[in-house]
Amino acid sequence: MSRRLDNFTVVIFGAGSDLASRKLFPSIYQLFRWGHLPESWRLIGVGRAGYSHEGFRRFVFDRVMELSPDSVDDRPHFELFCERLFYVNAELDQPEGYVALYDEIISTHVGDGACNNLLFYLSTPPSLAPAIVGNLVRVGLGGRGATCPGWRKIVVEKPFGHDLQSARALNVMLEDAFDEHQIYRIDHYLGKEPVQNIMVFRFSNGMFEPLWNRQYIAQVQITIAEEFGIRGRGAYYEEAGLLRDIVQNHGLQLLAAVAMEPPVELCADAIRDEKAKVLRSIRLFEQETVHPSVVLGQYDGYREEKGVGPDSTVETFASLKFMVDNWRWSGVPFFMKAGKALGRTVTEIVITFRCPPQNFYGEFGAAACTPNQVILGIQPEETVAIRFGTKRPGEEMVTDPVFMKFDYRDLFAEKGLTPYHRLLLDAIEGNQMNFIRRDSVERSWKIVDSLRAALAGIVPDPYPVHSWGPESAGRIYEPSPGQ
Ligand code: BG6
Repeated sequence: MSRRLDNFTVVIFGAGSDLASRKLFPSIYQLFRWGHLPESWRLIGVGRAGYSHEGFRRFVFDRVMELSPDSVDDRPHFELFCERLFYVNAELDQPEGYVALYDEIISTHVGDGACNNLLFYLSTPPSLAPAIVGNLVRVGLGGRGATCPGWRKIVVEKPFGHDLQSARALNVMLEDAFDEHQIYRIDHYLGKEPVQNIMVFRFSNGMFEPLWNRQYIAQVQITIAEEFGIRGRGAYYEEAGLLRDIVQNHGLQLLAAVAMEPPVELCADAIRDEKAKVLRSIRLFEQETVHPSVVLGQYDGYREEKGVGPDSTVETFASLKFMVDNWRWSGVPFFMKAGKALGRTVTEIVITFRCPPQNFYGEFGAAACTPNQVILGIQPEETVAIRFGTKRPGEEMVTDPVFMKFDYRDLFAEKGLTPYHRLLLDAIEGNQMNFIRRDSVERSWKIVDSLRAALAGIVPDPYPVHSWGPESAGRIYEPSPGQ
């Protein structure tokens, strides 16, 4: 790793959260263990658990050992990591604790500058963000008008708002205190190796991009399926539902990566410009026309989950058709299927090409062709496969579909970084390429809001656990050419 990072302090609000214990502490520990962090860094947890520094270190040690024991491959090193942890007790929505935070930041002085470089990480429900940001500003720790030197950045976890209105309010509030270049809106999907590879695959190869448009591509299918249900997050799911939890962020970001134009240069804003344009081109949904484009589902047993109402009409499945109204994609449907408690866990993008104008090799002269496909496996397989037709051995002149497949795990011994490793490093370094800009987050909400409004009053269709969603979902997919 060649990155040279500034000395810094990361301040985690919501240090007792599940996310902090499952992802943030293990990732920061591993970055430290692998030598990616600079000489001077520390982590300050903020919460209302009343820990001493020592108590917090014990808490982190125990939680990580309980939840992610595999991330700790060297206990003495993990203890060294724990020595870098500090704790400030604060009710996050009250101003008092922030004076103590300020004192902690300047008292445990590291490296140059009284305050040093500060990365604030909001691992909290979005409703707490305004109070946290307001309190930071009050004690002089905001991004603008800070009372001491060093950079300031703020990482905001999803969900980023609840709809367009709340996302806008959150953005306005953040931008009162921080500039856009200091705000890092996380979608951890953008830290996944195969997601980053979508752009590389498209723009580093000469042979695919000329075909990557409405003239050659018949349809795109994005699947984000999970075998498990809501995993105890009933209260959250009742508020969010699948459209807000998966489609608004992960789903639309995958779509944007597949559909974007090449950026004018490889920098955060050029890339984010192109993604924003795709999102702006996605047709909004309307009540009169929504029916053929959307099916919602709810898995059997969802209503018995803890925290879920007995009459809940929250969706845990969606099958959708998006249209991208621009020159490249006009008329090409982008299907998206996402859901909980489905047949298996798989995220993949299938790009299906049009058939050749004539097919001489269909079985018994039938018109069927084998459409070419590019299949981008995001998880659990990290693959790129290409499907094409080949002559079946024997007397007949018919084709069978076959695949050529590249698998990251077969070819590269080095394991990529996990999303949280990568995104934490990016944020410390100041690279916003894999974070969502304000215009995109708001446009994504506008799309999902239009969908929700168009669907008002529609009750999701039930589906059996470990199926592929309600039967009605079948009506959304248009058959691939040749099927
Ligand atoms: C989260 C969603 O953002 O992403 C979860 O809230 C979902 O519902 C998860 O399960 C999927 O992420 P990954 O990386 O585990 O596939």
